Amino acid sequence: MLEAARQALGGATRVLVVTGAGISAESGIPTFRGEGGLWEGFRAQDLATPQAFARDPELVWRWYRWRRDICNRAQPNPGHLAVARLEQTHDSLLLTQNVDGLHPRAGSERLVEIHGNIDTARCTACWTLTPIAELDDGVPRCPRCAGTMRPHILWFGETYWEGTLDVGLAFAGRADVCLVVGTSGMVTAPTSVAMHAKRSGAFVIDVNPNTSEVTRFADAWLKGPSGELLPELIGAD
Ligand code: APR
Repeated sequence: MLEAARQALGGATRVLVVTGAGISAESGIPTFRGEGGLWEGFRAQDLATPQAFARDPELVWRWYRWRRDICNRAQPNPGHLAVARLEQTHDSLLLTQNVDGLHPRAGSERLVEIHGNIDTARCTACWTLTPIAELDDGVPRCPRCAGTMRPHILWFGETYWEGTLDVGLAFAGRADVCLVVGTSGMVTAPTSVAMHAKRSGAFVIDVNPNTSEVTRFADAWLKGPSGELLPELIGAD
């Protein structure tokens, strides 16, 4: 499988990469649906919703500050570094579901953070984006209009911000290889981008220690942790 994937990548011009929480697992960030995904007895699915924020914004902000702290203290692992290296050898685009900021910190520049970013807040009234580091504790207020600020994260039940997926879909239609890493595929939009790449003729590689929704239609399943397999697939410094 690794050899077939290597060959496909070696012959590819355009590579679409889609990543999920699993690529950051080896950096110590708990995945959403795996062990360690709980906080004070809450599941992520119960806190990352507009309803949870409407009910108890203080609780949701506390959870996000806890997660932001974990993300900011974590370091990119060899999987993130290998993905960043692809930009030097291929025409590549990275769509990540992760909000942890580890891809940009590893050097990825051609990326779209389709679910937002843990370091950014957004005004619920006027949509102004502000770095969280510049805001007060508790439930911060917008520096422009004093509206309630929320984490700039796409929550369960919300629709993608306009245009977010378009660039990925357009690239998927022209990609030679689609490399999917560390996602359960339970969130349908990123999985459907990978499926669009497959239908358009791309060779799909799934890197995951477990089967996922992507494994079903992948041409190669590299079974194992991405921090080990991606450097083997892409090469290391
Ligand atoms: N290397 C690669 N994959 C791994 C590793 C690892 N070391 N460890 C775990 N995984 C895999 C798991 O097998 C699982 O398939 O990572 C996947 C993580 O799945 P989820 O927790 O469902 O995360 P993800 O698919 O990114 O979730 C998507 O759901 O909660 C929302 O918006 C949130 O972006 C998130 C989205």
